[in-house]
Amino acid sequence: MLSGVRVWVPLAATLFRTSCLGGCNRMRSPQFRGFSWSPRLISRWNTRDSIDLPNEDNPRILITGGLGQLGVGLAEILRKQYGKENVILSDIKKPPPEVYQCGPFVYADVLDYKNLRELVVNYRITWLVHYSALLSVVGEANVALARKINITGLHNVLDLALESCLRLFVPSTIGAFGPTSPRDPAPDLCVQRPRTIYGVSKVHGELMGEYLHHKYGLDFRCLRYPGVISANTQPGGGTTDYAVQIFHDALSTGHHECYLRADTRLPMMHIGDCHRATVEFMQAPECQLSLRTYNIAAMSFTPEEVATEIRKHVPHLKVTYNPDPVRQTIADSWPVRFDDSNARRDWGWKSMYGLEELVSDMLSSIHDKRTSAGLPVS
Ligand SMILES: NC(=O)c1ccc[n+]([C@@H]2O[C@H](COP(=O)([O-])OP(=O)(O)OC[C@H]3O[C@@H](n4cnc5c(N)ncnc54)[C@H](O)[C@@H]3O)[C@@H](O)[C@H]2O)c1
Ligand SMILES: *[C@@H]1O[C@H](CO)[C@@H](O)[C@H](O)[C@H]1NC(C)=O
Repeated sequence: MLSGVRVWVPLAATLFRTSCLGGCNRMRSPQFRGFSWSPRLISRWNTRDSIDLPNEDNPRILITGGLGQLGVGLAEILRKQYGKENVILSDIKKPPPEVYQCGPFVYADVLDYKNLRELVVNYRITWLVHYSALLSVVGEANVALARKINITGLHNVLDLALESCLRLFVPSTIGAFGPTSPRDPAPDLCVQRPRTIYGVSKVHGELMGEYLHHKYGLDFRCLRYPGVISANTQPGGGTTDYAVQIFHDALSTGHHECYLRADTRLPMMHIGDCHRATVEFMQAPECQLSLRTYNIAAMSFTPEEVATEIRKHVPHLKVTYNPDPVRQTIADSWPVRFDDSNARRDWGWKSMYGLEELVSDMLSSIHDKRTSAGLPVS
């Protein structure tokens, strides 16, 4: 009897998991926002007179908050794979002319549900990447607005993804952990009691997405990004931003004043790895995912270690340490290292940039930028 159960339960689970054939089969018609029509039915109508309907191998992707640090680069990679017209960048800012030249850009405010819904329907969107947020520097000064954009914006894309049967990607962060989380390494599943508003809203996002996945089959996907390092964006006032600033300082003044202690170790990642992780995770068949929120790791270093590596190229770099109590306390509550073994096992995640590759790439990119802008290089 018992052995019968042991055979049948997994078999039934496999049969029930039709998710690899399409994420929406498990939907139990949620009545969100008063819409109760079945997205399956609608897409069947569409198929009749349309041959280029997006499908699993040929998605149509909308990126919200696409003009921030991460959106434009991700769009570039996705456009190479799926075609220029199939990746739609959006934001509430006016893009620079070169963004228009790379592919479709539309205005989209994540607080405007009807506008978002219109875009999803008109462009026949199947994947949504949710990057919009209000930066911490601005966010701390205007918590009410940041809360609205971060949390109400998230609720809007969750509802929309559920209603329109979208595969939804939402980024989380090392900031989703707190002083009571295991730090070295931080596993995917553990205590999460962050003490920053940023962390609290990210944990809320992870939990809301997972709830809607378990209850209604929403194809929610979330990665906890480490500090992302890129030569293309100006560092803001974030806790990991010294690791971008130090490269600019090395090639301009030759002096970096660090707001963290020399031995503060944090998980970091080259932006190229971050984009590739996001794309590969979005492409993974649903049946391979044992979790909906994964840590991804590449390297962990301290200010002192990155400075030492930079000095191999820029020997005169001088670093002084003047820890800012607020950011130091935050950094001390974050993981030292990420355990990303589940991502490696489930969907084959593997980073390409280590500290050495990161440093030489950052220095040569910033060097090129400075020279082409006519700026001196020290
Ligand atoms: N960059 C990192 O190191 C990092 C690390 C971990 C997690 N993340 C997460 O990744 C996401 C994207 O990060 P980023 O660095 O590109 O952010 P960013 O702050 O650079 O960009 C956010 C974009 O959202 C836009 N935006 C603001 N309000 C909006 C609204 N109402 N509607 C639509 N768009 C709006 C802004 O104009 C901006 O272009 C964020 O959720 C962030 O928390 C980033
Ligand atoms: C909103 O998100 C930004 C960036 O992701 C973060 O810096 C800020 O602290 C967040 N604020 C709130 C209130 O969630």
